[in-house]
Amino acid sequence: MGLTLFLFPACTCAQTLYNQQIVTAIAIINQKGGVGKTTTAANLSAALAAAGKSVCMADLDPQGHLSLYFGHEVDHNHATLYDVLADDVAFADTLVPVRDKLFLSPSTTDLAAAETILAERDDRNLILQKSFALKPPTQDFVIFDCPPSLGLLTINTLSVADEIIIPLQPHFLALQGLAKLLKTIELVQQHLNPKLIVRGILFCMYETVTRLGRDVVEEVRDFFEASRNDDTPWAKARVFQSVIRRNIRLAEAPSHGKTIFEYDAKSNGANDYALLANELLNCYRPTEPS
Ligand SMILES: Nc1ncnc2c1ncn2[C@@H]1O[C@H](COP(=O)(O)OP(=O)(O)OP(=O)(O)O)[C@@H](O)[C@H]1O
Ligand SMILES: [Mg+2]
Repeated sequence: MGLTLFLFPACTCAQTLYNQQIVTAIAIINQKGGVGKTTTAANLSAALAAAGKSVCMADLDPQGHLSLYFGHEVDHNHATLYDVLADDVAFADTLVPVRDKLFLSPSTTDLAAAETILAERDDRNLILQKSFALKPPTQDFVIFDCPPSLGLLTINTLSVADEIIIPLQPHFLALQGLAKLLKTIELVQQHLNPKLIVRGILFCMYETVTRLGRDVVEEVRDFFEASRNDDTPWAKARVFQSVIRRNIRLAEAPSHGKTIFEYDAKSNGANDYALLANELLNCYRPTEPS
């Protein structure tokens, strides 16, 4: 297997220029529940902010877990993602500061109703894309936390995202559902958003000691290696070298309203998400000679 490909991947920059500002919008997506999407959205965003980048997080899940993670209190006077999707409020006008360099576009359970309202509209797949075009966010990164489904909320996210990170849990059902997810991504890329690429696969809740975990990682690597020359949005996807190990501190942090860096900066979880942010930022640097 071409290990060098993983160490020195070709630079695949999928970023959008809005008013002279380069914004990289990344969707954290997997229709499977409980694989680590929200944990990754929160802690990757915090790690990017710690690395000096400004980041806005978008809570596209009606469960509102990302908003709860940051202890966001419902304020009926402040617009949320529901208002973006149902009432054409600009996404940028929903952002609330939650930490230094870190902003949140919050959600409540109302967001589930937005999906029904969207279904009635001819432009239902493109509301978020239009909202970004009208009033772009001014942060370096937008990180979308998607719901565990491939409904209209996810399609709207894919229609505006530049890149996708797919969190997977390394067990024997890991690949189940991946084919359907990739097919959806391909359809969106072909019909709604030609710039869309899969940046990479992230293994979450990785158990270092199990043979099964290592075997699944190899199987997924082989699958993406075999797609290198295909004309698909995942042709240049990497399996991140950084894996997120199972770490109880990551599960505890949200109940204290803290990111892993605030809760336990020395934990494996903090270390893993810092390495992931570093690996991701390296993707935007010029290609190193191999
Ligand atoms: N690396 C990890 N180690 C231990 N626990 C983790 C880890 N990552 C996530 N968890 C825990 O696993 C559960 C599911 O994680 P998370 O909420 O991030 O998944 P999700 O994909 O967003 O779920 P959903 O599909 O419901 O939105 C949570 O309780 C979370 O705290
Ligand atoms: Mg979630």
